[in-house]
Amino acid sequence: MKTSAIILAAGLGTRMNSELPKVMHKIAGRPMLLYLLDTLSELELEKVVLVLGPNMEQVIDFVADSGFKVDIVIQDERLGTGHAVKQAKKNFSGYKGNIVVLYGDSPLIGTNTIKKMINTRNETINPALVVLSFSPNDVSGYGRLMLDKPNSVEKIVEEKDATKDELANRLCNSGIIIADGEILFELIEELSCENSKKEFYLTDVVGIARARGRECLVVEGTETELMGINSRAELAVAETITQNYLRQAAMEKGATLIDPSSVYFSYDTIVGRDVVIGPSVFFGPKVRVSDGVEIKAFCHLEGTTINKNCTVGPFARLRPGSNISEDVHIGNFVEIKNASLGRGVKVNHLSYLGDAKIGERTNIGAGTITCNYDGYKKSETVIGSQSFIGSNTALVAPVVVGNNAIIGAGSVITKDVKDNALSLTRAEQKDISNYGSKLERMRKRN
Ligand code: UD1
Ligand code: CA
Repeated sequence: MKTSAIILAAGLGTRMNSELPKVMHKIAGRPMLLYLLDTLSELELEKVVLVLGPNMEQVIDFVADSGFKVDIVIQDERLGTGHAVKQAKKNFSGYKGNIVVLYGDSPLIGTNTIKKMINTRNETINPALVVLSFSPNDVSGYGRLMLDKPNSVEKIVEEKDATKDELANRLCNSGIIIADGEILFELIEELSCENSKKEFYLTDVVGIARARGRECLVVEGTETELMGINSRAELAVAETITQNYLRQAAMEKGATLIDPSSVYFSYDTIVGRDVVIGPSVFFGPKVRVSDGVEIKAFCHLEGTTINKNCTVGPFARLRPGSNISEDVHIGNFVEIKNASLGRGVKVNHLSYLGDAKIGERTNIGAGTITCNYDGYKKSETVIGSQSFIGSNTALVAPVVVGNNAIIGAGSVITKDVKDNALSLTRAEQKDISNYGSKLERMRKRN
């Protein structure tokens, strides 16, 4: 039987206290919503409908750019999760199949859990719906599932409407259900808003289906994939869960993390085998690290490709557009931005290379700066291979330094330097003999 999905994301996310729609808040560098869209894309669904609130153009644009095929409907008034589902009714006229309803603020659900729900719906007793439950450590805020037989839900009670006895039950509602699409919207029509929040709760479809003599089954999932994100504190918990997962995955692929809990990955970080990552390293989006690379403590990387056997850091910052070839050494307090470094380049201390191309085996001395910005526009610095840039050199871009060239320390290079040339711009050294002892005599006299 085919399956479609409805994602509810119209809520105001009041407890986030934010201008940003809740589903746009990021976990490991990517908006929550993308986790769900990504997971759903693995399931070959018939269609995906996203329910948004008014004034969420930002989400609409983001979905359009994401490349996922999603129909968007707007819930003009936020009258509850049941009312939100109802907004998708027209998208499913004449539809026969399953509908899985997901909550935008529970983004970490895994594909296998959804598959398990689909199987329970398809391969058992044709239940009207299957509810995904979990038993979190802290049950506060979640609706509770009341079972009257093993695996069979009688009703879902929201925390605010629950009796003391019902609250003692720790089996919680994840919010995620899979329903028989043919009757889901009929059940929704019967919802009432006579409850403490005066909302149409989706959770009440269970009681209504049961009153019609249809079964509602339960599948159980884990807290780490089903926690709801309602506040910044819960967002931080989701971040920790995701980071732990990414750290584990990197280690399983053969990377050593000296202090895993201090390393932060992005959802898309790629780390090869025998990579060693020191403490307190942060990966922003789009970083790819090949085999045998060592990233020492306190580095910050984003939008960067590092090829085999390089060493980076400690305290290096690699910014977007950095392409580092094999065997490169990047040392402490070095910043690289939009620059490609050829094989075997060394830039070991206190330098800035921005909008630059550096040829193979070139040595960049301590304190070298590419002056890439004149206050109006950015310009490029190109340095050939096997050249030697002396310490404290300022390369005023646009400028080209050839192959096998040498720049004397302390130079300000404003003109191109030819292959094999020595170039220096410093003032000539002047020595005054016996000046030190003269100075000492003067001091004693005073
Ligand atoms: C909901 C469930 C609760 C469950 C918990 C799991 C209901 C009534 N309660 O509670 O049983 O334990 O999730 O995390 O369903 N939304 C809309 N339109 C609305 C209201 C909400 O689209 O009018 C969306 C929200 O954007 C959110 C989701 O539905 O993504 C859940 O809404 P929320 O208000 O967070 O419900 P909870 O109180 O967390
Ligand atoms: Ca919620």
